[in-house]
Parts: sequence; structure tokens; C-alpha cells
Amino acid sequence: MFLALRPEHARLADANEHLIRCYEAVRDSHHRVSAYLREHAAKDCPDHYYAVREEYNRRCPSAAQAARFLYLNRTCFNGVFRVNTRGRYNVPYGYKDHPIFPDREVLATVSQALGEAELVANDYKDSLAAAEPGDFLYLDPPYPPLNGTSYFTHYTKDRFDADDQRTLAESVCELDKQGCLFMMSNADTHMIRRLYRNFHVTRLPVTRYVTCKATKHRVGELVITNY
Ligand SMILES: C[S@@+](CC[C@H](N)C(=O)[O-])C[C@H]1O[C@@H](n2cnc3c(N)ncnc32)[C@H](O)[C@@H]1O
Repeated sequence: MFLALRPEHARLADANEHLIRCYEAVRDSHHRVSAYLREHAAKDCPDHYYAVREEYNRRCPSAAQAARFLYLNRTCFNGVFRVNTRGRYNVPYGYKDHPIFPDREVLATVSQALGEAELVANDYKDSLAAAEPGDFLYLDPPYPPLNGTSYFTHYTKDRFDADDQRTLAESVCELDKQGCLFMMSNADTHMIRRLYRNFHVTRLPVTRYVTCKATKHRVGELVITNY
């Protein structure tokens, strides 16, 4: 959304520090991130993946660490980001035939775009508390499961469960009352439809690659707006 709109003033916020630190490194040193990433891409295999994963869990933010993050993200199982309760990244190797890595030009473009944005690693409640009347917020929270067994909420060591979905919906109602505009993407489930029944809800067919069987399939997702 941000890259498509390239707004003059934007704040990109996510609770996942790994993601925000990676964005910062791409913004500040995309040449170095790109060089490290090419090295990993050339060596891609299960042994290299697990060595990089091990190193990733011991290192601090840097251009090299951002390249590890991107390499792991593109080659791991189903492209998911998941940490255990101690915050250690633990996704297994994905055995993809042709993983695609962002090239030099893509990283340069993203770097330039991020230069215009504020990057924040925090809880969504802090971001929403800072919103002012007239602001536009795009919200892309962790999705609740389409069935009872696929609750994928492990982006950070704090899980995002049904209570969090309810609290988020309450915060969004407050934003609406304050005069903010919002758009949210979410799963098409009874709970989400019920929580946002007072807003505009559009169902979109999307192709999902993140599945337990590593196959792509068509599902419905919701776009919810107050305008
Ligand atoms: C469906 S993903 C959205 C990804 C993001 N829109 C993107 O394109 O990269 C859900 C995101 O919510 C973040 N998240 C989970 N719990 C959160 C919280 N309490 N506050 C803020 N962000 C949270 C996760 O780290 C994850 O990046």
C-alpha cells in the first residue's frame, strides 16, 4: 500500500522489530544489503539456510542482518515469519525451486521510498493513539484462522488472538468517531464480519500462498473501510 501510494507523510509501524530493522537497513544501506543478499542467494541450499538462521538468531541489526532476514524470508517454508516463545526465528527451509530475491533496483527503489517515511517498531495501540482527525490509516493485522486449526499469529513472541481482534475493532471504532479514515484487510470470517458490521465491507478473491500444505489456493478476504 505504501509503495503504491508513496504518500508525502507516512508512518509505517509494526510490532515486529525484525521487519522494521530490515526496512531501516534497506533505507540506509541498500547497496550493502543487496551485496550480502546476492552472496546468500548464490549459496542457497538447506545447509546454508540453517547456518544463516543460526547466525540470524545471534546477531544485532545491521545491513548483513537485513540481508539474512530477506534471504530467510524468501527461502523459508511458505514465506512465513515465525518466532518461538523466546523470540527466536524458527521456520524450516522451504525447498523452493526458484526463490526470487529483491534485486538491486528494487532495493534502491524501496530505499528511496522509505527515506520519506517514519519507521516505528511498536504495538498498534501506540500508533492508533497518535492518530489525528483527517489521518488515513491502512491496517493489515494478523488474520484469524479460516478454520479452527490454522491460527497463524506468530509474527512476534506475543500472539495475536481473538481477544486482540476484538480490542482492535474497538480501537478502530474510536478512530472512526475521531474523524480518521481507515482501510483494513482481514480474513472473511463470521467474527470479523460481526466486528465490522457497521462499516463498508467488500469481499475480494485472493490467491494465498501461505498454507499448511504449501500450495496456493483461492480464498476470500475482506476490505473494510469507513468511507
Ligand atoms: C498480515 S501481516 C501484515 C504485514 C504487512 N502489512 C506487510 O505488508 O508486510 C500482520 C502484521 O501485524 C504485525 N503485528 C502483530 N501483532 C501486532 C501488534 N500487537 N501491533 C502491531 N503490529 C502487530 C505482525 O508483525 C505482522 O507484520
